[in-house]
Amino acid sequence: MNIVPWDEDVRERYDPNRMQDQFRQYNDSTPPVVRDFYRDNHRNQTLDFVLAKEREYGGLNHGEMGIWEAMEKLETLVDDSDPDTSLTQIEHNLQTAEAVRRDGHPRWMVLTGFIHDLGKMLCFHDEPQWAVVGDTFPVGCAWSPKVVYPEFFSENPDRAKPELQTSNGIYAAGCGLRNVHLSWGHDEYMYRVTRAYLPEPAQYIIRYHSCYPIHREDAYAHLMDGHDRELFEWVRKFNPYDLYSKSDSRPDLKELKPYYEELVAEFFPPEIAW
Ligand SMILES: [Fe+2]
Ligand SMILES: [Fe+2]
Repeated sequence: MNIVPWDEDVRERYDPNRMQDQFRQYNDSTPPVVRDFYRDNHRNQTLDFVLAKEREYGGLNHGEMGIWEAMEKLETLVDDSDPDTSLTQIEHNLQTAEAVRRDGHPRWMVLTGFIHDLGKMLCFHDEPQWAVVGDTFPVGCAWSPKVVYPEFFSENPDRAKPELQTSNGIYAAGCGLRNVHLSWGHDEYMYRVTRAYLPEPAQYIIRYHSCYPIHREDAYAHLMDGHDRELFEWVRKFNPYDLYSKSDSRPDLKELKPYYEELVAEFFPPEIAW
């Protein structure tokens, strides 16, 4: 199974050395597979689609599995991008977590780095890539022009529903993101799988780490409340570890495993519902 190199694309988009105005247009360097991916994502992530996925997965009735088992299963996903430079899923998780750990952050945050992408398990339930990865954004209200490649929303059927095209849409201003439906993907799924076990800042990080329109572009402020603004500090703090922790040396799983086994066991029972 191949996974679209969306993570690579985000990393390039927010490369600190990149010129500001380059970044919302795609150009020849954007691989067609990535462009097609965004088109599919923006075309298909409707409010009805998201509500259906929330119902389908919200009951956590897709089996019981330990964190490590999920980690090992995810490792069988093959990354489409350059095998010499791109990390496997577990390497990315470890590098993110190790970078958090090096900076002396709390143990729950190291753990969050380690598990934040495990919601990609959705791939094993035959979900298409555009419903697993990609920048997330609120549905049920007008799309912000700050969402990457907003022109692709022209093909989204919600475009024809005027009640979904106002800036608040189906929501009340300032209602708080907990009342807002975000496009479906690995963030929201993993949040639901793990929320019973983790402190709230960890839940926010997992739930919103792909919501670049909010945590990087400051869009959708009118739907947030004070609690969101407070907790988003953690999401912002986490993002550089997700994007920029990539280093030349590959993390040594064998050496690191005892530490992470203990960390996982500190927060999670041997099996959880997915
Ligand atoms: Fe992710
Ligand atoms: Fe990640």
